[in-house]
Amino acid sequence: MQVRLVDSNFTGARVRKLYCESCERESALERARRRFEERCHTIPPAFRWARLGAPELDERVGRHARDVVAARLGDMLDRGGETRGARCVFLGGAGSGKTSLAVACFREAMLSESAGLGLFTHAWRLGLSRAKYPLGQGDPPEFTAATSADLLVLDDVGTEPGSAPNPVAECIFERHAAGLPTWVTTGLTDAQIAARYGDGIARRIFEGAIVLDCGAA
Ligand SMILES: Nc1ncnc2c1ncn2[C@@H]1O[C@H](COP(=O)(O)OP(=O)(O)OP(=O)(O)O)[C@@H](O)[C@H]1O
Ligand SMILES: [Mg+2]
Repeated sequence: MQVRLVDSNFTGARVRKLYCESCERESALERARRRFEERCHTIPPAFRWARLGAPELDERVGRHARDVVAARLGDMLDRGGETRGARCVFLGGAGSGKTSLAVACFREAMLSESAGLGLFTHAWRLGLSRAKYPLGQGDPPEFTAATSADLLVLDDVGTEPGSAPNPVAECIFERHAAGLPTWVTTGLTDAQIAARYGDGIARRIFEGAIVLDCGAA
């Protein structure tokens, strides 16, 4: 055990403290690990494996999208308040690796010291949230959480049942207005998104966003 004597005068008085350097280091690491786990707890169990650099990611996601991540990762992530990180769209057909790549990037974002509250949710769950919530009681908790998270991964936009108003579109609109980054995964093209949600929502998803075509080789 390493013991060090330190002086600290932050209370005005000089205080002599004894502490174990290795225990302190371990508990700081433990705190950081717990904070990271809390930030990642909304990642579905089936995608806990997904992280940048994992060999499975290279096998399951097209080369083009991985190259875009390598080139633009700095823009995608929050850099400590200076910028909140870019909006991103993960495109491609079923099984092209959209969710895998989005989760791997989300984990990377949550590793940052300055990362706020991150949330992963499925558009289907968000889309049904109002229908399942009692009328007259305000917004469902899923909607509030998705709308206010510092970073939201909204998986499979377009698969939720149609409803008016659609909480998925509402959430995208609210987050855009608040300047909060939303990462969307979708099997729809930009024209199909516009046809389904209108040009305004399509613009709030695509304009200025980093687009990752997961199906492209
Ligand atoms: N836990 C896992 N074990 C084995 N294979 C997996 C696992 N997770 C993903 N895959 C495979 O990785 C590939 C990409 O999957 P992913 O779910 O990321 O694609 P997707 O584009 O999100 O698909 P979808 O449009 O159906 O949601 C698929 O071939 C899938 O079967
Ligand atoms: Mg998916």
